[in-house]
Amino acid sequence: MQFFEIRVNSVITNAPLDFDLFLTVGGKPVLFRKTGDVLTRERVKILFQHGGEKFLVPLDQRTLYLGSLKKAAHNPENSTEEKGKFLKETAFVHVNDLFTKKDISPVVTEAEGLVEEMVNFLTSDINATSSLMRLSVHDYYTYNHCVDVSVYSIVLARRIYGDSSKEVLMAAGLGGLLHDIGKRKVDWGIINKKSPLTTDEWKEVKRHPEYGREFLEEIPAIPDRTKLMVYEHHENFDGTGYPRGLREDQISGLARIVAIADVFDALTTDRSYHKAVNPKEAMDMMFGMQPGKFDPDIFQSFNKKIKKQTGMEFAPDFDPCQPGRVFK
Ligand SMILES: [Fe+2]
Ligand SMILES: [Fe+2]
Repeated sequence: MQFFEIRVNSVITNAPLDFDLFLTVGGKPVLFRKTGDVLTRERVKILFQHGGEKFLVPLDQRTLYLGSLKKAAHNPENSTEEKGKFLKETAFVHVNDLFTKKDISPVVTEAEGLVEEMVNFLTSDINATSSLMRLSVHDYYTYNHCVDVSVYSIVLARRIYGDSSKEVLMAAGLGGLLHDIGKRKVDWGIINKKSPLTTDEWKEVKRHPEYGREFLEEIPAIPDRTKLMVYEHHENFDGTGYPRGLREDQISGLARIVAIADVFDALTTDRSYHKAVNPKEAMDMMFGMQPGKFDPDIFQSFNKKIKKQTGMEFAPDFDPCQPGRVFK
């Protein structure tokens, strides 16, 4: 039997399970709860405290697992924060597919459904944005990055283009989710390398926007705007970026948006050589670091949005890589 991993916290508690849950015991999967059983919140807490972070679910029950997440994300009895949590878990499953499944076309199509859910969530509930920003997961850096960049890109596109153009918001969310898809083609050892990259390795990493464009070229259903976001997300407003050194409005509008979302997420997340800073510090750093890097109008708009959204009231111990609170 084949399995996939899910986070312990992503399981709906105190209601009958829609799928079987296995635990790894002595390196082997062992049935822990079967479909229809009820898992209590207390039991999950105890498991988590004892270092149990992952369940295994049989691969042929994947649709049932995704269905249960969807149900929870729409359950009116759940708080906005809980709905956001289940939506984010769904996003991780899709991003995992985007980076690991052999045939990319069907998983990109599936991801479009997810982005629609995210756009609907972010535009329908006033607390949704801050709720999705509060949720950070402490593992899977690349996956987390793609999901967060997608959320920030939607938030920012909303600011610039308004709610009326759902199509644009969808394109923005999808571009955020897919912006680093070209890394599929780069050696995983290089992507996850903790020590500094050699010149050749760096050269290879810098090809990921082109690789991304090549992947998406073959999928006609992807909006051109999204394809340009992927290809141009490392271009700088002042022409110092790559791969083509485009400048100002030579760079497509959504690519200028995702460039801001990308750096903002990197700064607010713990990485090998960077301790996460809070959003206010991140904005200050982005402003001072290289004034010509970002589109000044979009940057200003994001700056205001962050101020408005958070009111600068971050918890003093905020750390986006820990499951703790972000805001006071
Ligand atoms: Fe990138
Ligand atoms: Fe990125």
